[in-house]
Amino acid sequence: MKKLFSFIILCAFASSIIAQELPVGGPPPPAGGQQMQQTPDVFIPLDTKNTSLVLRVNGRDGRLYQSYFGLKLNNIDNLKQIRDAGHLAYATFGTDNLFEPAVRATHNDGNPSLELKYINQSLEKSVGGKSDVSLNRIFLKDPVYPFEVTLNIKTYNDEDVIEQWVEIKHTEKKPVTIFNYASSMLHFDAEKYWLTQFHGDWAEEMKLQESELTTGIKILDTKLGTRAHMYQTPVFMLSLNEKSDENNGQVIAGTLGWSGNFRFLFEVDEKGSLRIISGINPFASEYSLEPGKVFRTPSMIFTFSDKGKGQASRNLHRWAMNYGILDGTGTRLTLLNNWETTGFNFDEKKLSAILDDTKKMGLDVFLLDDGWFANKYPRNNDRAGLGDWQENKAKLPNGLGYLVKEADAKGVKFGIWIEPEMVNPKSELYETHPDWILKLPNRPENYYRNQLVLDLANPKVQEFVYNVVDGMLATNPGIAFIKWDCNRMMTNAYSVYLKDKQSHLYIDYVNSLYGVLERLRQKYPHLPIMLCSGGGGRVDYGALKYFTEFWASDNTDALERIYIQWGYSYFFPAISVCNHITSWGKQSLKFRTDVAMMGKMGYDIEVDKMTENELKFSQSAIANYNRIKDIIYTGDLYRLISPYEENRAVMMYVNDSKSRAVLFGYTLNTRYGETLNPVKLQGLDPARTYKVQEINVSNEARRGPGMGPGMSQSGRSYTGDYLMKVGLSVGSNTPLTSVVYEITE
Ligand code: DGJ
Repeated sequence: MKKLFSFIILCAFASSIIAQELPVGGPPPPAGGQQMQQTPDVFIPLDTKNTSLVLRVNGRDGRLYQSYFGLKLNNIDNLKQIRDAGHLAYATFGTDNLFEPAVRATHNDGNPSLELKYINQSLEKSVGGKSDVSLNRIFLKDPVYPFEVTLNIKTYNDEDVIEQWVEIKHTEKKPVTIFNYASSMLHFDAEKYWLTQFHGDWAEEMKLQESELTTGIKILDTKLGTRAHMYQTPVFMLSLNEKSDENNGQVIAGTLGWSGNFRFLFEVDEKGSLRIISGINPFASEYSLEPGKVFRTPSMIFTFSDKGKGQASRNLHRWAMNYGILDGTGTRLTLLNNWETTGFNFDEKKLSAILDDTKKMGLDVFLLDDGWFANKYPRNNDRAGLGDWQENKAKLPNGLGYLVKEADAKGVKFGIWIEPEMVNPKSELYETHPDWILKLPNRPENYYRNQLVLDLANPKVQEFVYNVVDGMLATNPGIAFIKWDCNRMMTNAYSVYLKDKQSHLYIDYVNSLYGVLERLRQKYPHLPIMLCSGGGGRVDYGALKYFTEFWASDNTDALERIYIQWGYSYFFPAISVCNHITSWGKQSLKFRTDVAMMGKMGYDIEVDKMTENELKFSQSAIANYNRIKDIIYTGDLYRLISPYEENRAVMMYVNDSKSRAVLFGYTLNTRYGETLNPVKLQGLDPARTYKVQEINVSNEARRGPGMGPGMSQSGRSYTGDYLMKVGLSVGSNTPLTSVVYEITE
């Protein structure tokens, strides 16, 4: 029997007479020198449709503890009878906590201790007019110092998601230095803990790795400042007791909404209890908090599923569509990008031809990438021009306005690339404002992609970045799409503006970025903007509330892409993931197209070099996509076969009413004598009958002889019951082949 539940049952049985509190690390010392009076415990149940998080104020010491987190408890009375395991809901440092704290501060008199006692709570129902959203604010205070912490816990009932952030404030005479400031602290008591992490690098984002946590501390973090998620995305999954799979097991999926340095710390103590502390990475970031100012942490977003990772993902997807991503339940524009085909080398004539290609393909937008700006130091490669956001006169003599009009005349929209947070040393911006740049005053500049980061902590730089975007949109109101890039991390970073507060840089940078984005969104609330950071170097729900989508990776090789998209799919819904069909990879056009369809599809390919058949195939695939994209964007995702476990990958999306679905199947490799079992579908209604129709059929890009059974399935009807119990044949004996089934009631 699982440890937590056996513990609860045992204790409930043994304590039917008297509730006895466990001392925290031995007999409780008189906290803050004060004698606490025994008052009744206060329980704070925080429920969603299927889960409960129960906090408890211990009447004896006045502290706030986590009593329970897991499947929904219909009644917490039994919980009231058990002994508390002593898991502080927001552990401090300096008194009697023996493990990693959630918060640590040194007071204005130099005293390094913090004690937090429960004061009161408030409950706001129907937050933002949404009846399923509630916000609990739990107010804690140090009994000795005027230092306050408010835990904000928002529950999303229908999505089974909890969002937590913390506000820290004091009214001491002088600034207080805070060293740790977690967004959340969660405790678990299980037999074993299996952590799934998602790490990578440029062109190999979101690689999945699962390992068992052992006693001590395991940290997932980043210290890169900008392009902060290049090696680690701020996400994790944790399975309790045993490894979970897609449909079985207890799983917590968590993600931090923060575009800068983050840290997840997993500490297993000597009793086998686990605490997870999530938040901004405190590394090199002690923060001097002025009296009366509020330090607000980013949001930790998490969900619990007892039906495996698939359900955890669907919970987060639903939450993201409704609350996490800008216009998350809307639609998206298909596009043709020119980065892979022209690089920096283009002119009006070439672009005009690409506008024609956009129309010919049946796509919505042409996205003009890097290289369109700067004159004194033209942006003809990545060594110059970044920061000088005026149209390059040689390439675009008639300006962006001309291209916007051209696009309009040709019946497509126009989009543009920018990277407003960065600067090349070879630029007018660098020459005019050397003090706007993050660089050490007394050491050589350190370049990455030949560029430096602007000091967004400086309000003048914030104004500049805002004006780059606003100015461009004001002059060219027809711009219908933006790709916002960020191609380097911070190194040798020093802010002239921050003076003696250099340790504020990592935090102030991100908050300032959000400030600029907030202003832009007030003026341009729905303009589609793609979040890009040299591939997927900035992917998180702190940024995504300002962005409609993100660029998952510069690696568009369709085989690699299956793994990368698979990784993102655990936390981010398909509507937010941009996938382009390019010339990377050696797979057929069909294979590349099918892979890109599992998200927001676009192209970055030489349309004029396509054969007649390829063009026809693509046009019909785009028409197919436009017909089914709503299922992919807002449907439920089921990961049916993992590329990490088989030589196949199979995923399907099912719409809300279970009347339409689409299945994508890929054969990655083949082995002699390998048996490909039928794939059981999920999420359909067993009582309904569905027609299975293969789409994106290509004669040129043949799928190989082994697709025979697949062919015969196409056009037939099956009950949902059959499809979910017997399944469809998916796969072939030819590597790198694929199949897409449109499934309609
Ligand atoms: C990095 C992005 O990931 C690419 O797609 C492209 O926009 C280049 N930057 C342009 O410099």
